[in-house]
Amino acid sequence: MAEKPTILVQLDTDPLPSVFDRVVAVDAGAQYLFSYGGVTPQNVVPLVHGCIFTRGPKDLHRTAIFVGGSDVAAGEAVLAEVKKHLIPQYGMSVSLMLDSNGANTTAAAAVRAASRHLDLGAARSLVLGGSGPVGQRVAHLLAKAGGSVRIGSRRRDRAEAVCMTIRSRVPSAQVEAVEVGSSSDGPRALDGRNLVVAAGAAGTVLLPKKVRDAARDLRVAIDLNAVPPAGIEGIEVVDRSRDRDGVVCYGAIGVGDTKMKIHKAVIGQLFQTNIASLDIEEIYEIGLQLP
Ligand SMILES: NC(=O)c1ccc[n+]([C@@H]2O[C@H](COP(=O)([O-])OP(=O)(O)OC[C@H]3O[C@@H](n4cnc5c(N)ncnc54)[C@H](OP(=O)(O)O)[C@@H]3O)[C@@H](O)[C@H]2O)c1
Repeated sequence: MAEKPTILVQLDTDPLPSVFDRVVAVDAGAQYLFSYGGVTPQNVVPLVHGCIFTRGPKDLHRTAIFVGGSDVAAGEAVLAEVKKHLIPQYGMSVSLMLDSNGANTTAAAAVRAASRHLDLGAARSLVLGGSGPVGQRVAHLLAKAGGSVRIGSRRRDRAEAVCMTIRSRVPSAQVEAVEVGSSSDGPRALDGRNLVVAAGAAGTVLLPKKVRDAARDLRVAIDLNAVPPAGIEGIEVVDRSRDRDGVVCYGAIGVGDTKMKIHKAVIGQLFQTNIASLDIEEIYEIGLQLP
């Protein structure tokens, strides 16, 4: 008998489910897309039960859950609740993916870009905007790869908190908090770094050109901010492996193409099994395997 159609259940923490995520789901080949907005840990349980108590275990790899929305912490809370209500010991489980605000796929694409030019096991990185959802994930992946990672924030305590979280998940992590609140902090933070990733809020300049130009060891610079002005002055949003004064540069659109490919590939993976839980590390691994 023919396989059942694939169904992607989109659980969005915003009132209106993301059109962006819906378009990508369709383009990734999900045959049916059930979209729910305003999802919280309090109202998600019947949605999970609807997934796992309908099709039998042998068909549940054809149903999957995508958790999204603009608030990454809210998405993480929903994902944690969803996991509590799966019953994998009886086969009643579906695969899960978290990509609130595109944070996982964006971070995975940025680190994949860096990996094309540097040995991440030996890289010395600086992640600006390191306290945000994207920056935290970039820093996590870089630390997991084995290099030394400085995490920049305007407030040292916020950067320290990110370091602690990463150390709790990656015990071998070489992470260090740096305060980058004033213009004089930049040169010190960049000193000796061969990779910088700017993951600051949209439209904020985190690295002025004169500071970047003075960074003698810098080899790769990646700016994830697509809203002018650029987060790293002098990088264009469309830069993709563009050499600028001896530094390989990527802008947000240059990384965004890979992000889209990763997003679609991960949705495809969801339908291979009914037990996958695809968060930052798994999403990055899928990204690394793409051509
Ligand atoms: N290309 C894509 O597909 C894609 C997808 C998702 C996101 N993005 C982009 O990736 C970047 C990071 O996203 P996100 O959601 O993690 O960002 P975010 O949470 O909005 O901001 C990240 C960090 O930027 C710092 N920041 C905020 N306002 C600032 C200001 N006025 N001046 C200097 N620093 C400031 C904050 O750190 P501190 O307060 O600790 O300093 C904050 O934690 C954004 O530019 C976003 O647009 C791109």
